[in-house]
Amino acid sequence: MRQYKIAAIPADGIGPEVIEAGVAVLQALAQRAGNFSLVVENFDWGSDYYKKHGVMMPADGLAQLKPFDAIYFGAVGAPDVPDHITLWGLRLPICQGFDQYANVRPTRILPGIASPLRNAGPGDLDWVIVRENSEGEYSGHGGRAHKGLPEEVGTEVAIFTRVGVTRIMRYAFRLAQARPRKLLTVVTKSNAQRHGMVMWDEIAAEVAKEFPDVTWDKMLVDAMTVRMTLKPQSLDTIVATNLHADILSDLAGALAGSLGVAPTANIDPERRFPSMFEPIHGSAFDITGKGIANPVATFWTAAQMLEHLGEGAAAARLMTAVEQVCAAGILTPDVGGKATTREVTDAVIGAIRGAN
Ligand code: NAI
Ligand code: MG
Repeated sequence: MRQYKIAAIPADGIGPEVIEAGVAVLQALAQRAGNFSLVVENFDWGSDYYKKHGVMMPADGLAQLKPFDAIYFGAVGAPDVPDHITLWGLRLPICQGFDQYANVRPTRILPGIASPLRNAGPGDLDWVIVRENSEGEYSGHGGRAHKGLPEEVGTEVAIFTRVGVTRIMRYAFRLAQARPRKLLTVVTKSNAQRHGMVMWDEIAAEVAKEFPDVTWDKMLVDAMTVRMTLKPQSLDTIVATNLHADILSDLAGALAGSLGVAPTANIDPERRFPSMFEPIHGSAFDITGKGIANPVATFWTAAQMLEHLGEGAAAARLMTAVEQVCAAGILTPDVGGKATTREVTDAVIGAIRGAN
């Protein structure tokens, strides 16, 4: 019997609601499979912890997480704590401290879910966005001088390193190579940003030589939003910087029907540290406590986690169950249904138990 230790950090807002649903589904999968088990330990870190202790997680937080096989993360963000404190206090230190440099965001239109795109149905939009997750515009470099004075300056410096760009590019080419269409689009803004972004383009061309069977092209990020909206079928695997991919993947989630179905995985491909799996969405104050948060993104990221742990069969079973439940119209209000988080979760567990 294989055993995996999972650290659950539900954190804020709807985070606890969707993580509870996700853990129930994971346990049902393990039970159904019978050849692996999951030991889930909960960490109460987040904004409530911050209000009590002045920090989002304890100083030895990363050391506590290190022995786990994976981290299952809800969302951070509270109306009465500044967003840069919640984000830089918990999620980013884990991503950066564990060098989870590949942020992987699959998007598909699931059966039963309507895309806001008039002519797009299941099969027309099937993408994986690879987001550089360790540097770029979110490296934290910069500062403020002359605070509060008329001559105040704020700088936000994007850092691109040859090592950082090469490794994310290789990851993206490898992922594209493993998908049926073997198609990669490299996104930059190398017309206006003429240093780091030009280096991206050059490194993409170099790495491409290692993958002669992958077809690749380049897009500027602004034009990319147009292509995603008007020609979704023309895209497959996409790689972009931390900021660009952050924005493009919210668009991707919306085009697939809702942010509530969009998952993400923060991967350390070298497996030196635990990787972290989470829905893309935030803590959604507007629906917190109403029992209607869409748990599909959190289920999908659980499938990414199982895949990463080597439990591909269980991952596939989970996605089949999710698709069956969506196709049956058991949907939360954000995707046009009337079901609660609980009802969707129970239906997915039912589909897992019933599946061959
Ligand atoms: P959000 O993702 O929390 O919500 C945006 C909209 O999508 C809201 O109308 C919300 O109700 C809806 N939505 C999101 N997830 C949903 C789900 N599972 N089911 C149904 N509807 C869903 O983004 P927002 O409102 O910009 O930010 C709220 C807080 O979350 C802020 O404090 C922000 O900093 C934080 N945040 C945290 C993230 C993280 O922890 N990774 C990511 C994005 C935002
Ligand atoms: Mg985002």
